[in-house]
Amino acid sequence: MVRARTAILISGRGSNMRALIAAADDASFPAEIALVVSNVEGAEGLSYAAAAGIPTKVIPHKPFASREAFDGAMDAALVETGIEIVCLAGFMRILSDGFVRKWEGKLLNIHPSLLPSFKGVHVHEQALRAGVRISGCTVHFVVPELDAGPIIDQAHVRVEPGDTPQTLAARVLVEEHKLYPAALKLLAEGKVALRNGQAVFR
Ligand code: GRF
Repeated sequence: MVRARTAILISGRGSNMRALIAAADDASFPAEIALVVSNVEGAEGLSYAAAAGIPTKVIPHKPFASREAFDGAMDAALVETGIEIVCLAGFMRILSDGFVRKWEGKLLNIHPSLLPSFKGVHVHEQALRAGVRISGCTVHFVVPELDAGPIIDQAHVRVEPGDTPQTLAARVLVEEHKLYPAALKLLAEGKVALRNGQAVFR
């Protein structure tokens, strides 16, 4: 089996990255994690990836004159490593339209709400303020509009009385760690594809 060479982009803790690495540790998983890139030097996830024997690269965004220039450097690192699929996992930079279009259909993100509800940041605060009884997480194809891409899969959790953003985040995170590997598997196996702006399943 040829495994899809996959990169993970992180900015921090990297717990979703760890879940993807753990899933891909199984030789029968259709994707291999071939690179972890972070825009933040010292991001917690980097040392874990390195210890797991995965090549890592730090590309700090600050020295670049523009978003496009930073994205160009990331794209070069991905191409150099022969990457076919890119997973955003707590990557806290907005990507330029050019980068997103280039990787369209191969670029995934995980978001800690049931999209299209509660886009952007402070997601669990938004959910609690809205008083929803069910929240969850979404893996979607990335398109230029933030948190708006075609949905590949979702998982739900109940909002419990007394939940704080922290307790809700922790409950959602447990589901994120199962959902992201499952969604990556679907893409790597060709069971989902982005066609004419829609996720098409077979
Ligand atoms: C996760 O909640 C993810 O859904 C969101 O950012 C958080 C990243 O956490 N996009 P981690 O770095 O994967 O632990």
